[in-house]
Parts: sequence; structure tokens; C-alpha cells
Amino acid sequence: MKSAVLEKILSRVDQIEPGEVQALLSRLVREKGFLQQVFEALREGVLLLDEAGQISFINQAACGFFGTTSEQAQGQHLGKIVRGLEWNHLKGSSRSTVSRDLEVFYPENRYLNFYLSPIAEEEDEADYGYVMLVRDVTNVRAEAAEEIESEKLNALTLLAAGVAHEIGNPLNSLSLHLQLLERKVRHLEEGDQQSLGDHLSTARNEIVRLDTILKQFLQAIRPSAPERKPDNLHKILHESLQALRPELESRDISVALDLVGDIPLLELDRTQIQQALYNLIRNAYQAISPPNGEITIRSSSNEYEVTLSISDNGTGMSPEVMGAIFEPFHTTKAAGNGLGLLIVRRIVREHGGELEVQSEEEAGTTVTLFFPRTNKQVRLLEDQAPIEV
Ligand SMILES: Nc1ncnc2c1ncn2[C@@H]1O[C@H](COP(=O)(O)OP(=O)(O)OP(=O)(O)O)[C@@H](O)[C@H]1O
Ligand SMILES: [Mg+2]
Repeated sequence: MKSAVLEKILSRVDQIEPGEVQALLSRLVREKGFLQQVFEALREGVLLLDEAGQISFINQAACGFFGTTSEQAQGQHLGKIVRGLEWNHLKGSSRSTVSRDLEVFYPENRYLNFYLSPIAEEEDEADYGYVMLVRDVTNVRAEAAEEIESEKLNALTLLAAGVAHEIGNPLNSLSLHLQLLERKVRHLEEGDQQSLGDHLSTARNEIVRLDTILKQFLQAIRPSAPERKPDNLHKILHESLQALRPELESRDISVALDLVGDIPLLELDRTQIQQALYNLIRNAYQAISPPNGEITIRSSSNEYEVTLSISDNGTGMSPEVMGAIFEPFHTTKAAGNGLGLLIVRRIVREHGGELEVQSEEEAGTTVTLFFPRTNKQVRLLEDQAPIEV
């Protein structure tokens, strides 16, 4: 990259005193060193490129993004360091600023956004090359994806709730008509009454069953706002385990508890937390094939949060399954709905918490719930000695 300032100095170098030349040169070196330090301190990646796309400078952050070192990258063509990036296509025909997103897979999968701007002091001066600024936008993209997902879920929820609601009306009417039929049947002869009565009671039982399924479904997808009261998470856990005992015993699955001694009270909606625990414990035992099935439940607590983790030594999940566990109706089970984990996550989030899933194929799965502590307060940090540079 040429420097116009440097060129001007060089053209007049014979008119300048040797002492002045030295002073100018050392000033240039100092300024270069200063700029380099500034570039290195940035978290954004900075690259300087010539007209042809050859790298003349790359800072540490950019080296980290692209998995290279400045020694390797300097003098190399950008396309060699960032594989798949076509220089000519990228900079286009006009010297305008280009901004693009980029997905890199090495050294780790990240989304980057970069700006490529021509450097020119004046409009027509085109020989300064380009500066490329690179930002890591992985988190921003993840947040956007989450937002889209929750929108999708909202739409699905509305649709499902609408359908479920519409099924409720004919069910009511069916049940009324059955009652009328029952009354009429009572006036028939004894024998007819008996046989028709059997059919009628089967029909009535089926309607009750459908009504229950519908109510549960509606509760799952359109839950009431959590009614949170100070409660003991361990107590809710014990109650849930008690309710699930027959299912666990019939599968010969043991549950080991490793619970913290004094767990602080949390603002919890007991029914919803129970629903979350049922789902997680059921998922755990459904992944286990006997014998030696074991579920381990641990809790811990610190100043800010309480955690509860449910681990199983079951099948674990492949990365593909892991990628879809929160997708509604995505299930690997013959009789699954694919709603369980979604409901658990929503419940935990409505409690201001988060959920984390770790899984290893053929080893097992751990789902950890994080609940924020109720008495979270602003905390003054201890005075720190000024940082020495
Ligand atoms: N503990 C676990 N071990 C292995 N795989 C699991 C575990 N928990 C969840 N999964 C996987 O995640 C998928 C989604 O789980 P989720 O609980 O949301 O739905 P489901 O269990 O299939 O159906 P349901 O709505 O009846 O709970 C499951 O089908 C299964 O493949
Ligand atoms: Mg489930």
C-alpha cells in the first residue's frame, strides 16, 4: 500500500535537513506503532488489504476469527485465509463499501459480519487499498433465531388452541344429546334398556375421555399465567417422585438424590413445576432400557441461583436429535407428542430461569434447570485496585 504523505516527503527529501528526516521517520514509526496497538486492542477484526486483496495487516481478533496467525496471513491473498471468499466478486466493480454476513466453520462455527471499505483520501485516489472490519454476530443471530422460533410457537399455539376450542363445542352438544337419549331409553322395555344403556355409557365414557384430553392439551399449550408463591423446590420434587413411583418401579428404575442441604425458598408455581418435573423424569426413564437404569437428581444453590439437574444413563441423543428437541411435535417416540421439553422450557422461562441440555450418545442425558433467587439485589462490587498496564 502506498502512502501519499510518504511519497510527498520522499519527493522533497533532498531539501530537508538530515536531522529533520530522522525526526519525521521516528514520528512515522511511533504513529504506526500507536495505530497497531489500537488495532490489536480491538475486539473487532481489522484487516488492511491492497487493491488485489492481499493482506498487509491483520490484527489478533481477526486471526482468532479465521484461525490464522499474522505471520501466516501477511502477504497472503484474502481468499486463501478466508476460504470461499471471492475477492473480485466481493469488492465488486465500484469502490463502494460492502457489508456481508459470513459463516465460518474453522476454528469454530461462528457467524461474522464484515465491512469492506476502500481507503481513499479523496474521491479518485484509489490506490490505498481496503480496510475490512469483522464482528462476531453469533449471539445476535442466535437471539434472532430464538425470536423467530417463539413467534412460530405462538402461531402454532394459537392455531392448536383454536382447533381444540372448536372441538369442545360439538363435544358439549354430543354430551347433551346423549343425556336426552338416556332419558328416552328409560321409557323403553327392560331388555332394550339394558343393551342400549351399555352403548350409551360407552359413548359417554369416550366423551369424558376426549374432554379430559382436550383440557390437558389446552393446559399444555395455553397455560395459565404462573401463580408463584414462595415454595421449596425439594418438596415439589419429592411429591413429583411420589406420584411417579409406580411408573418408575414398574420399569425397575432407581432414583438417586444428591440434594443440597438448605435450599432457599423460590417463587414457584407448584403445579407448573410439577408438570416440568414429570416431563423431565418421564423423558429420562423413557430413554433407559433396563436393567441398571438410574436417574440421578442433583441440586445446588449459590448467591444468585438454584439449579436442579436430572441425569439419566439412557440412550443419550445424537447431535441431530439434540438440534430439534425444542421443535414442537418433533419426537423420536412412537407414542410421543414432542411437546414435553418445549413445555418445560416455557415454564422455566416464565419463572425467570433457563434450561440446559447436555447429552452423549449411548451414555446419557442431563437436563439442568436454573432458577434465579428471589432476593436478587443490586450488588456493589468490591473496590478493586486500578488495573496496571
Ligand atoms: N432424557 C432424554 N434422553 C434421550 N433423549 C431425550 C431425552 N429427553 C428428550 N429426548 C429426545 O427429545 C425428544 C423431544 O422430547 P420431548 O419431551 O419434547 O417430547 P417427547 O418425549 O418425544 O414427547 P412428549 O410430548 O410426550 O414428552 C424426544 O423425542 C427424544 O428423542
Ligand atoms: Mg417427553
